[in-house]
Amino acid sequence: MSVIKVAILGFGTVGEGVYRTIQSHSEELTATLGKKVEVAAVLIRNTQKKRNISENVLVTTEFADILNLEQLDVVVEAIVDKEPTFTFLKSSIERGCHIITANKEMFAHHGKELLELAEEKNVSVGFEATVAGGIPVIQTLRQLLNINRVKQVQGILNGTSNFILTEMREKKQSFTQALILAQENGYAETDPTNDVEGFDAFYKTMILSRLAFGEEPNWQEVEREGITSITSELIEAAENAGLRFKHIASITMLDGQIKATVKPTLVGKEHPFYHVEGVQNAVNVQSDIVGEITLQGPGAGMFPTASAVIEDLVYVCQNPPVNRNLTRSLDVTTEFNKNDKQETWLVHGLIHKPITPSITWIEEMEEGTYVISASSKEVIQLAKQQKNLVYFPILGEYERVNRVKAALKAL
Ligand code: HSE
Repeated sequence: MSVIKVAILGFGTVGEGVYRTIQSHSEELTATLGKKVEVAAVLIRNTQKKRNISENVLVTTEFADILNLEQLDVVVEAIVDKEPTFTFLKSSIERGCHIITANKEMFAHHGKELLELAEEKNVSVGFEATVAGGIPVIQTLRQLLNINRVKQVQGILNGTSNFILTEMREKKQSFTQALILAQENGYAETDPTNDVEGFDAFYKTMILSRLAFGEEPNWQEVEREGITSITSELIEAAENAGLRFKHIASITMLDGQIKATVKPTLVGKEHPFYHVEGVQNAVNVQSDIVGEITLQGPGAGMFPTASAVIEDLVYVCQNPPVNRNLTRSLDVTTEFNKNDKQETWLVHGLIHKPITPSITWIEEMEEGTYVISASSKEVIQLAKQQKNLVYFPILGEYERVNRVKAALKAL
């Protein structure tokens, strides 16, 4: 039986997960691909570290050793940073290998170039593991985009941030305690700033944008904010309003232009993201034929990410490398996110209530904390006037809770 030879670049959480899954699921892989999958080589950095890798596998610190292997079919990349990763993957494509990457930062910066080079060299690129961990969102979008026109994609795309927000709310952990736990569980990036400041989710958002809309918004114009400003006090204020903080990425095509935001957002009980807790991610896609779809699953960790890579292994080995990009520009006009559209917000730290007829004061949660209806322009204006004011959009229907609570108490 012929063999598919794979090299794994990096043996951290993801690389090891992929190695172990290829061993544990070799029968399924052989049955699906009609060929045996073998790990031929692993690229490592630290030679002192003890690893559980079979003696038959070449373990090396030199990428050149891998490129010089007699047979090499697929290169799986699970390292961090843009370089030397990008260079390694370009060389792998030049050699005629399919590539699979889990590196969001590198792929957000160089994905287009890699896809174009791969097309030229007649090989495939798998990047399922770059977005939303184990959720098969790339394949789902690819499938959906055959006919549907996607109008909006929203997602909880950083497992670490969602895990921290959940720990802070449910277990009253401090931000730091929750982050340490996320690191111990292998969810966080080597530099967790990428997670908690929203960079990781931003890169994933750009990858989704390219896939769903064929292009990306201007990176400088994307509103990107992490979760570091979310205090336990804010989480409690939100909870009193029946809301939960989620770090949400949103991409919308509006009048032929892509608008994207990546920031803390509030959701109520009816919203599909309300119950997405811990390291879970979720992606909500709105498209013209099917309507709304929400996918949910583990967004980080060894085996969820390995699952995405293994799905890609099957994809690159099975699919003829045609129209790999599978992206197109769609000129879909939607009503989402127009600047003057009325939205619901939680504002906190209000010193005085301004007389602005266009703002509707829906509910006072406590002194200085209100749920209001206003346009984003008006909220930004309000925050300019009152320096300590923080504001968060509420997605979906807002259900008044305090009045209900007060009424129940009065009974
Ligand atoms: N650090 C990332 C996260 C890993 O927490 O989502 C998965 O991309």
